[in-house]
Amino acid sequence: MKIKKAVIPAAGWGTRLLPATKAQPKEMLPIVDKPAIQYIVEEAVAAGIEDILIITSKDKQSIEDHFDISQALEDALEKQGKTELLEMVQDISEMITIHSVRQKEQKGLGHAIYCAKTFVGDDPFAVLLGDDIIHSEKPVIQQMIEIYEEKEAPILGCKTVPEKDVSKYGIVNYSRRDGDVYKVEDMVEKPSAAEAPSNLGILGRYIITPEIFDILENTPPGKGGEIQLTDALKTMLDQREVFGYDFEGKRYDVGNKMGFLKTTVELALAREDLGPEFKQYLKDLTEDF
Ligand code: G1P
Repeated sequence: MKIKKAVIPAAGWGTRLLPATKAQPKEMLPIVDKPAIQYIVEEAVAAGIEDILIITSKDKQSIEDHFDISQALEDALEKQGKTELLEMVQDISEMITIHSVRQKEQKGLGHAIYCAKTFVGDDPFAVLLGDDIIHSEKPVIQQMIEIYEEKEAPILGCKTVPEKDVSKYGIVNYSRRDGDVYKVEDMVEKPSAAEAPSNLGILGRYIITPEIFDILENTPPGKGGEIQLTDALKTMLDQREVFGYDFEGKRYDVGNKMGFLKTTVELALAREDLGPEFKQYLKDLTEDF
């Protein structure tokens, strides 16, 4: 079955980016010149996703506004003859149909995904976490859809993480590795280095089958007192095979200050229009240190 729906959880407070996130959603902070969430939506669209559900919360209206038509702005740009800017603005609202649902209480990623139950229905679906921007040749979620089509099983986007960082991620234990695909045997949310069964981390991309909703309904709070998606996926292992996939691409965590800075610098350097001049600027700057 083709994957046509994606869910983007974007309900968190963004406390690691305060004070910038006091009165605006972290997903709307610009990385170079685009809100962080636009990179995620563009990845999904490039992978052939047709409907996106964003899990939001109070005070996140600007995310929906960003992907909606802005008639007043379009009229002004047209009047001023700014055709390129007008097209850019129109492309954003024409890109895809965005749906949204509010997560009324912050009870964890598993709870956020549960809010997508009605939208998803009986189809397998993609999940792209809003804090994880991945720079790659082929959209990562497309790479994962291709593996899903071959395996017809849930797929977790994974990468090896340094041992000191295992406590930041869902960590996978696996029995077999076939190229870039791992057969998952166990999962644990944010283990200590001593508890971690491996250093293969789940990095913000998932293809999930709809049985997850029944499982989430019965998943008790786990790490941090929150309902964890990792715990529900672990339960799923009793019912069916789950695979980890070591995707091609570099993943950035834009949900904390250092990650945000690194993403901004590296994505600016990768830009054809800004990269060369910015690179020279950084070279000159570092000579002064
Ligand atoms: C979430 C997931 C975790 C995953 C991580 C990837 O954690 O719970 O399993 O490894 O995203 O970014 P969060 O970073 O939202 O606390």
